[in-house]
Amino acid sequence: MHTSYSQLSSDLTSALARFLDPDETRAECRRWFQEGLGLPASWILIHGDEPVPAEDAAKVAGWLERRKQGEPWSYILGWCDFRGRRFTVTRDTLIPRPETELVLEAALEVGRRLGVLHACDVGTGSGILAVCMALETDWEVQASDISLGALKAARANAEALGAKVAFQRGHLLAPLKDPLGLVVSNPPYVDPADAPGLQRELAFEPATALFAPDRGLALATEILREARRRAAPGCVLEIGAGQGEELRSRALASGWKRAVVHQDLAGHDRCLMALL
Ligand SMILES: C[S@@+](CC[C@H](N)C(=O)[O-])C[C@H]1O[C@@H](n2cnc3c(N)ncnc32)[C@H](O)[C@@H]1O
Repeated sequence: MHTSYSQLSSDLTSALARFLDPDETRAECRRWFQEGLGLPASWILIHGDEPVPAEDAAKVAGWLERRKQGEPWSYILGWCDFRGRRFTVTRDTLIPRPETELVLEAALEVGRRLGVLHACDVGTGSGILAVCMALETDWEVQASDISLGALKAARANAEALGAKVAFQRGHLLAPLKDPLGLVVSNPPYVDPADAPGLQRELAFEPATALFAPDRGLALATEILREARRRAAPGCVLEIGAGQGEELRSRALASGWKRAVVHQDLAGHDRCLMALL
């Protein structure tokens, strides 16, 4: 006996509501239909009584088993949209977060104001920042990551989206060539002491993409120091909630003349800009 689309939607809503809050349940259910099954938002209204093909019903059942274990939807799907572009994501890459768009916008604005010709993305992950900078400016863009798996995904994304980026493997800025130009990064910034209380979905993301020593501040601090030492004209970093004040003083102590912290829409510290 075939399930109808309305029945599938209602069964899926009940199953997701066992581990997600009501807003997340509605949003995910919509994403499963649109992104997973490729059906428009209006599909249920028009085709609600029609039977779901057996192969689609089986796909949804398989996704649900993985999702129940805590695996994030973007890993199940294998891609994630960022700034209107589709990026492949794998278990080697962080899943792009919407708030990282604020950091990209800040970087584009700062870079244009400074008139830079070069930029680099440190800890590129799936490549979102490097690829968007390369596609939206005429800057020469290079990017680094410590993870071979992340670099493989980033290279594939750059190629698929037609972005010219020089990817290098290594520690932070070390593998990147001078001139660095504007240094942009969303480094790992979660305090390892917070690990036990984090959402279970985060356990599926690479620990190297999330955690940094010194209460999450170590890599951001090193990037600020190295970028200044190597004469970058500016540095734009994604930072964690509550890290703004301390990183601002560390930026000034590294020799930057100005350091400004911006909050995201939820009012959390999210972006640090260090300038000369
Ligand atoms: C928070 S993720 C950001 C990924 C991507 N830029 C984004 O915004 O979605 C941090 C990235 O830094 C990389 N990373 C961690 N430690 C590193 C290091 N010492 N040197 C270079 N990359 C590093 C991780 O592999 C991960 O891809």
